Amino acid sequence: MEQSKENAQSFIQLDRLPKSLELVRLEDYRVALEYVDQRKLPYELLRQSTEMWQEVVDAITTLALRGAPALGVAGAAAFVMWVCNDCVFKDKMAALEQAKAIAHSIANARPTAVNLSWGVSLALAVFEEHLDDPEHEIKIACFEFVKKLEADDECSNRAIGAYGAALLPKLDGGCTILTHCNAGSLATVFYGTALGVVYAAAEAGNISRVYADETRPVGQGARLSAWELAQVGIPVTLICDNMAASLMAKGEIDAVVVGADRIAANGDTANKIGTLSVAVAAHTFGVPFYVAAPTSTFDLTISSGAEIPIEQRSPAEVLDPLYEGVEVYNPAFDVTPARFIAAIITEKGVFSPDDIAKACCLS
Ligand code: MRU
Repeated sequence: MEQSKENAQSFIQLDRLPKSLELVRLEDYRVALEYVDQRKLPYELLRQSTEMWQEVVDAITTLALRGAPALGVAGAAAFVMWVCNDCVFKDKMAALEQAKAIAHSIANARPTAVNLSWGVSLALAVFEEHLDDPEHEIKIACFEFVKKLEADDECSNRAIGAYGAALLPKLDGGCTILTHCNAGSLATVFYGTALGVVYAAAEAGNISRVYADETRPVGQGARLSAWELAQVGIPVTLICDNMAASLMAKGEIDAVVVGADRIAANGDTANKIGTLSVAVAAHTFGVPFYVAAPTSTFDLTISSGAEIPIEQRSPAEVLDPLYEGVEVYNPAFDVTPARFIAAIITEKGVFSPDDIAKACCLS
């Protein structure tokens, strides 16, 4: 019997995706972070484990751990690793001073994704709030806080997925989506933001295919998004970044969905370098351009994208070895002006970029 479009459901294999990171409890209130080393994908699914907060900072700077929501949890976890494994509690005031310095160095490991400083400052606040408690209770409170962040991340991504899936047109055969970089499960604890929208829509039988931009220079689209989509069983086609506009010009793309690293109060959105070109092409060819992000990516302290700090990365990511007489420009992110964004999909609902302050007021 033919299934009607309303009832169409496809079963995607989300259980083939790993959890990107997880804080685990060891003996004597010590903790370790287990995470997937994303530099090795797609050829090796390497799980790492460390008890050293400095190694988590290193994983963040080298992109072993990456993606804004994942950075929020990783930053909080790194701080809590210091609390549980290294902090000397004899002099509580000295411990607090050191905690602030450690928090500062973790939060500054990467400057653009506001989620990183968000996660670290919340973890520092939990530490401060419990500072007068016995040592083991401080450690338990901090550990439980990170476990809650992990759980909240997946809940929030599933809500983003559901809101975003409802926004896509219901098409016979499903929608064709274009995405840039990796705002998938790997960029979060689990499920993803932009790819969360794709997963929710695929579960409702409304995805035909995803085009994944390769995302030069580091290849998060080629190595991570395409891998994730292939793992779960969603048809995926990898393209070079310079092919996206031609697909849109041919009417092959129904919507673009990307993630975000920081969204200013006016809706201007920083995301992986190249997102701006995709947004301009989408605007030109009348393709809706959606940003999917949790409200922890909003930075209402800045009025526009011009104030977003943009990380500059090593020339070696662009060409290695470089040759004499050539300089390299390698900003890791760009800012898409709010006017190119059709809507911002959050865990609290779908907002016009002019309206994001409202999202932050909703509980
Ligand atoms: O440099 P990266 O890989 O951390 O950049 C990641 C992105 O730009 C993502 O699109 C963004 O963090 C959103 S992840 C849900």
